[in-house]
Amino acid sequence: MTDSATLGLFGLGTMGSALSLNILEKGFALHVTNLRPEVVGQFRQEAERDGLAERLHGADSLESMVAAMAPPRAIILMIPSGDPVDETIAKLVPLLDKGDTIIDAGNADFHVTRRRTAEVEALGFTYIGMGVSGGEDGARHGPAMMVGGSPAAWDGIRAVIESISAKFNGAPCADHFGPDGAGHFVKTVHNGIEYADMQLIAETYGVMRNGQGQTPSQIGDVFEKWNAGVLESYLVEITAKVLHATDKQSGQPAVDVIVDAAGQKGTGRWTVIEAVRLGQSANVIEAGVAARAWSSEGEARVAGSAIFDAPRDPLALSEADLETALLVARIVSYAQGFRILGAASVEYDWSINFARVAEVWRAGCIIRSSLLDDIASAFRGDLPEGQLIFSEVFAKVIRDGLPALRRVVGAAIAGGHPVPALASALGFLDTMRAARGTADVIQAQRDFFGYHGFEHIDGRRDQHGPWWD
Ligand code: 6PG
Repeated sequence: MTDSATLGLFGLGTMGSALSLNILEKGFALHVTNLRPEVVGQFRQEAERDGLAERLHGADSLESMVAAMAPPRAIILMIPSGDPVDETIAKLVPLLDKGDTIIDAGNADFHVTRRRTAEVEALGFTYIGMGVSGGEDGARHGPAMMVGGSPAAWDGIRAVIESISAKFNGAPCADHFGPDGAGHFVKTVHNGIEYADMQLIAETYGVMRNGQGQTPSQIGDVFEKWNAGVLESYLVEITAKVLHATDKQSGQPAVDVIVDAAGQKGTGRWTVIEAVRLGQSANVIEAGVAARAWSSEGEARVAGSAIFDAPRDPLALSEADLETALLVARIVSYAQGFRILGAASVEYDWSINFARVAEVWRAGCIIRSSLLDDIASAFRGDLPEGQLIFSEVFAKVIRDGLPALRRVVGAAIAGGHPVPALASALGFLDTMRAARGTADVIQAQRDFFGYHGFEHIDGRRDQHGPWWD
């Protein structure tokens, strides 16, 4: 594929329409179609309203769209993940010419992307798995984009992708992170961090709301203030807005009329599954995924509240402690995400450039935050033991902030307020600063019941304990 490839997009849902308008606005011609063809006409009207219909070519089916496109073609799929992608690829393949490219721009399990890449490329086409972050607004005005595929495939779409992506100080928030599933995996880990960060924010809100009796609007004021400081980020910014909103019908705070059961489409879970598969643990991300699962057990929680009569003692934590605790835990969640990326990069031979990942996440995506610039610099500098939390800048923030995180988690736990993600961050940090842990006992137990053997501190391997003497 070359720069002159004809661009097409299948799937004019919210994200597909927004991305199409973005592509048209940047001056590229675009062919579009949709499973329900009537949507194409509606999209044309939308493009006309924005003065962007001049280079738009609508088609009423995949067949007629592909026929109208001069090869080489690059066709972006913006459709629900899973079977619909396989079905669309199966429909597209007989219509394409060798050298054409299929780009899956939805969220996808990277194992599936690896499989699809192998299948599609064996037929002489090019396949790209591309993570796109930033919701509808991002897709319309500039998302962060994480590309996986062959370097040649990236060269072919680079100009378009960089042009439509978000910009940070003028630099495009888009890059190629490796072959086949690398882009979708970077996006998956982005979402794992997204889950963790959202949970950390929600727990901090819970401590303030249920522990300190603050109203959503008061807490919104605090989040707004925090967003002007070290916690500056998209998620803190929108949380402030959410907490300030009022339900029009009841006049109550908007959050109070929302059922406390969080949805999930699976990307956070994929991060955790892959972490475990790689012999890693990302306990803050796991806590985010677990909390969403538990949130859906509303009836059980109501029953539990009657059975255990859980005490919820009042808390008196300072704003500064809460801010610092959230910051330190957030650093841990990013660090755990990068640890998984590191393990996967080795396992799948992707050579992911972690500084570039951090740079691409600086604008356009859901987890954009002022920390990412420091994370990028840390990866470009000296990283003791390869650990982000040991880098000069973050080691200092964590060392100074640990007492605050400990006070917040300690008080919340003592008062009966659930803070599983904040506590996970503290547990991880306390583990990583203990030069000698307690796995000696685990090894002794394993040897005792299974004769598994252990390594002696003097370096001798396959030793056995004196349990049976
Ligand atoms: C993004 C988001 C997005 C994700 C939604 C829904 O980066 O724009 O991560 O890709 O699909 O946030 O995710 P859940 O439904 O799993 O919360």
